[in-house]
Amino acid sequence: MNVDRARFFAEERWTGGVIGLGYVGLPLAVTMVENGLRVVGYDRSENRVAELNRGVSPVEDVSSDQLSSALASGLSITDEEEALAASDAIFICVPSPLGRNREPDLSYIESAAETVARVVRPGMLVSLESTTYPGTTEDILVPAVSAGGLAIDEDVFVAFSPERVSPGAEMKTGDISKVVGGVSAISTEVAAAAYRRVVASVYPVSSARTAEMAKLLENTYRAVNIGLINEMAQLAHELDISIWEVIDAAATKPFGFQAFYPGPGVGGHCIPLDPQFLAWRAKEANFATRFIDLAEQVNTKMPAYAATRVADLLNRSGLPVFGTKVLGVGIAYKPDIADDRESASIEVLRELERRGAAVAVLDPVVGSARIAEHGFEPVTPDDDLTGYAVAVLLTDHEMLDLEKIAAEAPIVLDTRGAYRRAGLQLDNVETL
Ligand SMILES: NC(=O)c1ccc[n+]([C@@H]2O[C@H](COP(=O)([O-])OP(=O)(O)OC[C@H]3O[C@@H](n4cnc5c(N)ncnc54)[C@H](O)[C@@H]3O)[C@@H](O)[C@H]2O)c1
Repeated sequence: MNVDRARFFAEERWTGGVIGLGYVGLPLAVTMVENGLRVVGYDRSENRVAELNRGVSPVEDVSSDQLSSALASGLSITDEEEALAASDAIFICVPSPLGRNREPDLSYIESAAETVARVVRPGMLVSLESTTYPGTTEDILVPAVSAGGLAIDEDVFVAFSPERVSPGAEMKTGDISKVVGGVSAISTEVAAAAYRRVVASVYPVSSARTAEMAKLLENTYRAVNIGLINEMAQLAHELDISIWEVIDAAATKPFGFQAFYPGPGVGGHCIPLDPQFLAWRAKEANFATRFIDLAEQVNTKMPAYAATRVADLLNRSGLPVFGTKVLGVGIAYKPDIADDRESASIEVLRELERRGAAVAVLDPVVGSARIAEHGFEPVTPDDDLTGYAVAVLLTDHEMLDLEKIAAEAPIVLDTRGAYRRAGLQLDNVETL
């Protein structure tokens, strides 16, 4: 059965089931169809399902054309979980946020596991892709899958394989090597065979826990290095040295140095959150994660630091923050995407509002409607910017007209080094 099952996933035209059709699940479903497989995509949100069935993709990494052709060639999308029973392999791509006290909120994974328990049948592979603490696949998925009497490795196969896409980045789901760790050697083999049909390369590891921790290490590494460079940026400012020039110089070393850049804080739903899964699990083991805690302390203070730098610039011109018109440029959590979840840019602007500034926002990628939803006054690229005392560049979208902003706003604080990268040396632009 086991060897046969790996061969089945390697050779047959099987049906994949995807639970959760968001930033991760939808690209995975479409990639599977593009590789000749059939896919049942299940999402419990009726609105999401209706939108997708109209051929409208809410995710940057899948165009509506791509979605429509997938719908015409093997992808079916539904909000009825029973449809998943037709799948040979189920991939769980539901959210895994943090709760109020920054503890993992596993409710989505638990509810997806309950769905799997209701539709699982002999021969199925079940793979969890949601980012989570090491041990989740064994703690939550294995009991759910085997509750009805199916035996792991005899009847069903269970694995964890983290998704590593970065929305908006050039490398898409199928291009990035997939780390795959089963709850046993047999499950790893079966899962690796399935993933090889979908992605360019697969990297099997010895356990689901290893795969779970590998994902958390990747993002903890980023959070810690960003924390380090954010601290260095503050020190360099004190010493009247440009951190950007320092980084460029250090990056000429051909080995042993990887450039990270400062900014107004870390955002998005991965870098600020993922290390907390490790920190939470470490606490249970009575282990102190000092690097994670330190990086979080530094990074979460960056929005207030950026706001203080805006205040300092205004002060130099004899202006208070209170009652002054400030233009925030960019509220997405990173360039060239419309996603503003957990964005540090918004934190900077909220801090300025708390200090009494009148904040308006220019972000042509996020768009005016969403800006207004946040309670900020929206500004469009053609608007006159001369009425703002200061512009603070928070997200460096490619499409921003940097020259226009600096020509019209009397002072600019560039928290991303965008002017420097564009080769624009302007007297009224200060870099973080
Ligand atoms: N977005 C990213 O860039 C990214 C990158 C790597 C890893 N991840 C991880 O992938 C996971 C999914 O993230 P996402 O950004 O795709 O989330 P998302 O919010 O974009 O999409 C999740 C979808 O799951 C649906 N859903 C929730 N619970 C469900 C359930 N029980 N049954 C069926 N559908 C359900 C929601 O309606 C939603 O459409 C998370 O663990 C996240 O940390 C995300």
